[in-house]
Amino acid sequence: MYAERVLSGMRPTGALHLGHYHGVLKNWVKLQHEYPCLFFVADWHALTTHYDNPQGIEQATWDMVIDWLAAGVDPNQATLFIQSRVPEHAELHLLMSMMTPLGWLERVPTYKDQQEKLDSKDLSTYGFLGYPLLMSADILIYRADKVPVGEDQLPHVEFTRELARRFNHMYGREPGFEDKAREAVKKLGSKKARLYEELRTRFQQNGDKEAIAQAHAMLDEIQHLSVGDRERLFGYLEGTGKMILAEPSALLTEASKMPGLDGHKMSKSYNNTITLRESAESVTKKVRSMPTDPARARRTDPGEPAKCPVWQLHLVYSNDACKEWVQHGCRTAGIGCIECKQPVIDGILREQAPMRERAQIYLDDLTLVKNIIADGCEKARELARETMRDVRESMGLEYH
Ligand code: TRP
Ligand code: SF4
Repeated sequence: MYAERVLSGMRPTGALHLGHYHGVLKNWVKLQHEYPCLFFVADWHALTTHYDNPQGIEQATWDMVIDWLAAGVDPNQATLFIQSRVPEHAELHLLMSMMTPLGWLERVPTYKDQQEKLDSKDLSTYGFLGYPLLMSADILIYRADKVPVGEDQLPHVEFTRELARRFNHMYGREPGFEDKAREAVKKLGSKKARLYEELRTRFQQNGDKEAIAQAHAMLDEIQHLSVGDRERLFGYLEGTGKMILAEPSALLTEASKMPGLDGHKMSKSYNNTITLRESAESVTKKVRSMPTDPARARRTDPGEPAKCPVWQLHLVYSNDACKEWVQHGCRTAGIGCIECKQPVIDGILREQAPMRERAQIYLDDLTLVKNIIADGCEKARELARETMRDVRESMGLEYH
């Protein structure tokens, strides 16, 4: 019923690597052409685990935004912002905390898992327990209906759906709904208002579903309606109350198959990464020191690409002719490993070149980044404010 809207966030954990690029960022770049997108830095979420050491968060935030821009996320297409700069997230989080059963939070599977995994840290905090609730606020405050996330975050999106349902059930009938709906009908202008009333009557008296479809089509075409009025008009049509918060759905991001330097999945915790903007020297050095098929102890020993992590990178970066050259050359000891690694190095550098170029513009002038974020925060805030007005009102908090 709402305009389709994509929202996703990332915790600022420092420089992003090629795994993030192939997994998440390429997907964002694609989505930004297909939907209105909101992408944000979840800096408060970083605090849930780094509350004892928050100093790095600021730098990590700017680095990450530059990485997004470098990867091709386009601030003219997508709205980029920082969570903590839209304090409405915190207000929604607080208000929802009043009606969130403790058991729902305790049962989110990531809760105990992460607590155990990060057992060097005391995570029996209020904030950490509330991680999924804060994430729900991030999503619901934009009435986002599509949330691209990795598999690990699916339970959080499911939690968000349940919470939205509970909220709507509890507060969904805003006081004075009928009056407001009638006001909204007037705003359609006399001709459309008459048609709307007619279709509404057809549905309510005869159960005519075709009339509903026709009314939806008409409302979809009207641009100037506020989100609140639009929802009221949809609700009034069928005689139901207003859905204050929209149930989102997850857009599962396929896990990145990007191999790291050791053949395992690229991940910061495996220490096998190449960052998006890693220097050419460092890329060269890292690839040159990658382990290869141990059978090739000497240059003259033949090897098997399937047993070599370098081959995994050829699968990402090399064309068929090059892959053929590797297969044959490796198995016949026709080529050496240093030789074999060069096209991989070239491929990575080729991929990074436009990223490094784009990043340089922002590194030279950080105010560009700050302006992009300031703009994005302003846009995001407008949307958030609109939802919060409805939320406050539905909870009886709009005192005048
Ligand atoms: N929890 C997400 C992660 O770790 C980050 C995040 C915070 C997020 N808020 C969000 C993702 C809202 C999507 C929507 O990856
Ligand atoms: Fe690996 Fe290439 Fe050496 Fe074969 S020739 S072991 S594929 S680096």
